[in-house]
Amino acid sequence: MSMTEWEAIEKRISCRAFTDRPVDPAVLEELRAYVDELNGEAGLHFQLYSSDRPGKPAIKMAASMFSGPVYAFAALVAGDDPASLEKLGYYGEKFVLKAVGLGLGTCWVASTYDAGSISVDVGEGERLWDVVPLGYAPEKMPLRQTMTRAMIRKRDRKEEAFLDSASDTEYGVLPEWVRKGILAVLKGPSAINQQPVNILYRDGTASMVVWKHGQGLEFNDMGIAKRQFEIGAAEAGVPGRFEWGDGGRFVPEQ
Ligand SMILES: Cc1cc2nc3c(=O)[nH]c(=O)nc-3n(C[C@H](O)[C@H](O)[C@H](O)COP(=O)(O)O)c2cc1C
Repeated sequence: MSMTEWEAIEKRISCRAFTDRPVDPAVLEELRAYVDELNGEAGLHFQLYSSDRPGKPAIKMAASMFSGPVYAFAALVAGDDPASLEKLGYYGEKFVLKAVGLGLGTCWVASTYDAGSISVDVGEGERLWDVVPLGYAPEKMPLRQTMTRAMIRKRDRKEEAFLDSASDTEYGVLPEWVRKGILAVLKGPSAINQQPVNILYRDGTASMVVWKHGQGLEFNDMGIAKRQFEIGAAEAGVPGRFEWGDGGRFVPEQ
């Protein structure tokens, strides 16, 4: 089974229920190699933790949001500043989509887990920003988790709303690749589904801006949104990379 990144975007949801099945060793191995690759490329400090003992989960999630044991998780550690957090979002989303492509259920989790149940390597000047539980989703998601997601997703913004009002074009006449990029951002995860970034389109160039500031996780969300947009744009035939930072421009590949 091989999934494209666009297919992984369409498949991904925040999975908050897991079956009592440890993650396959071969899958873990592939994810470990991917974590090493991302850390090497971006200077991040992502880590993978797992348990193969039935009845001995690797992390305890908050029972108010999650059900079932979690036998493996990624600890997303990076520097304690907005630029590092944006990078963590960008590369963390690459990791999440890789895990989805390998058949796993995942969720970005900044707060609803028991921090006392894990021990993570956090260096000087670093911070554990999020954990990503990894496991197998039940055939049928329990009603509680379906309701949780529906409740949070009810606040979805409209695609048109993602086009910043300082743009020089209307949504309806945007190039296909920009609309596909926006759709990918909308489908992507963000902390409490705030969807805090806009796309500014001017003189044929798309940039990403934070329109809603909160407790700081908007930079995490911006990194995620940049990766999601890139995959959407590439799917519509325009591969490219965003510059870093608030207001960073999308630069199409030559
Ligand atoms: C940075 C970040 C932190 C998050 N923290 C939590 C969390 O602590 N608990 C939780 O249940 N979901 C958390 N989420 C998941 C969001 O609620 C979810 O992505 C959003 O509601 C959109 O739903 P979806 O991912 O199912 O499409 C987080 C997401 C992000 C991006």
